[in-house]
Amino acid sequence: MPSEFDQALRKVPDVANGRRLFSLCIACHGPEGWGRSDGSYPQIAGQLASVIIKQLADIRAGNRANPIMRAFTSRRVLGGPQEIADLAAYIAGLPMTPHNGRGPDYLVDEGRPIYRKHCADCHGDEAEGDADEHIPLLQGQHYRYMKRQFDHIRTGQRRNADPKMTKQIQSFSRHDENAVLSYVSHILPPAEKRAPPGWRNPDFPLIPRHPQ
Ligand code: HEC
Ligand code: HEC
Repeated sequence: MPSEFDQALRKVPDVANGRRLFSLCIACHGPEGWGRSDGSYPQIAGQLASVIIKQLADIRAGNRANPIMRAFTSRRVLGGPQEIADLAAYIAGLPMTPHNGRGPDYLVDEGRPIYRKHCADCHGDEAEGDADEHIPLLQGQHYRYMKRQFDHIRTGQRRNADPKMTKQIQSFSRHDENAVLSYVSHILPPAEKRAPPGWRNPDFPLIPRHPQ
């Protein structure tokens, strides 16, 4: 029996159903899917569909320390592989915030060579991710969210992380970690993936917005 992840990858998504299911997610990730710049919730808008599918399957399986969200991914609430594929297609198509939470400016130049040397092979030169290998797109992700993920990976709370990346993280100083993540947080998604100024998701007109 193929895993739920493999099954979901093979489904033809029904984006309209994904939009309906997305109402389960907006209390935390926001109606735009932008999360919060303080990093409490990640931006999920514009993420590669295969990555969203993998993360949902992993959260459901308890491989990420995410007790709050896990309840929302139960089979009873969300459904099976088809529903996961529907949601992932909808979220992947949402435009991304041009105003993500960023790390300190003065660390960006120091972080660039670290990224090129240690991260670009997997996450891509522009941090665009890799759909076939379900490696996350990191463009526009909130700095503090990424810091927390590194803490979780280091302490083993995030058990789904890539083993090579986990080993690498263990060997970085805090300073180098801040520098590389600050650099990443300053890589903007390409113009065609970014929301225009003032954009609000028209699918959810009545939901109050968190301050960004
Ligand atoms: C109760 C709040 C809450 C709800 C509701 C919620 N999430 Fe999340 N979600 C989170 C938090 C918090 C994280 C980050 C957890 C961590 O730090 O590991 C997260 C992480 C994620 C990630 C991983 C992001 C990444 O970059 O790895 C995805 C994908 C995701 N959520 C999708 C969804 C979808 C789809 C729904 C609706 C079915 C949903 N979430 C509902 C709180 C929530
Ligand atoms: C060997 C390939 C590889 C290398 C090298 C690597 N990563 Fe990753 N990274 C991954 C994969 C795969 C994931 C997703 C793991 C999972 O399924 O949760 C990931 C996840 C992440 C996440 C969490 C994203 C999210 O949305 O939750 C961040 C942040 C990240 N990587 C940053 C980096 C940085 C910065 C470097 C360089 C210092 C790096 N990675 C090096 C493969 C790699």
